[in-house]
Amino acid sequence: MFITMEGIEGSGKTTQIAHISGYLQKNGYPCTVTREPGGTKIGEKIRQILLDRDHDMLDAMAELLLYTADRAQHVSETIKPALDGGKIVICDRFFDSTIAYQGAARGIDAAIISGLNRLVLKDISPDITFLLDLPPETGLMRAWKEIDAGMRDTAQSRFEHEKILFHEKVRQGYLALAGAEPQRIKVIDAALPPEEVKEAILAHLGSVLPAHNMTTYY
Ligand code: TMP
Repeated sequence: MFITMEGIEGSGKTTQIAHISGYLQKNGYPCTVTREPGGTKIGEKIRQILLDRDHDMLDAMAELLLYTADRAQHVSETIKPALDGGKIVICDRFFDSTIAYQGAARGIDAAIISGLNRLVLKDISPDITFLLDLPPETGLMRAWKEIDAGMRDTAQSRFEHEKILFHEKVRQGYLALAGAEPQRIKVIDAALPPEEVKEAILAHLGSVLPAHNMTTYY
């Protein structure tokens, strides 16, 4: 089973992924947590290039191709072997991010993005996607608080430097995807307190997981 977590900056993906993996491990499901960009040694280097706040000159198509290169490596080196080995893979961002950020926000044609995705996906597609939805003003405020508190690297903040309008387009891009695929994409109100967000996520997860010695975690 392949689970992905999506949302704008400051939506709380990392915290919620830790809850999901804790819940799965407690219930005896072997799982792997990974992320994009990153998730491989090569991908982590690509991530440095993509998130470097000094790279504001990065061409939109170059950006798209770097995310795609990262995904090609990630699918073949990390995701596919883990799924083939029977693990549940939880990934912090996947192809929906490309559609929302490079498509809806940067304006690259959706057909180009889906063509590139097809090249690298090896028929892999998320079974469940959680979309942590909240207004960009709230998300960015949280993200900058974390950066200011030294919890995140200030040099790796290229997207946090984008205008509110950019993040609003990302949000709308995500919501359009969720509207088109409501079976796969579960929208969660991420403006709620983290404890309530966790409960909503784990309740949905519990209802879709194959039965397997379930105990209650939350
Ligand atoms: P994050 O690890 O904090 O989520 O940062 C990753 C950044 O990369 C985030 O701003 C979203 C962006 N991104 C894209 O623009 N396109 C993509 O395909 C992916 C995976 C991420």
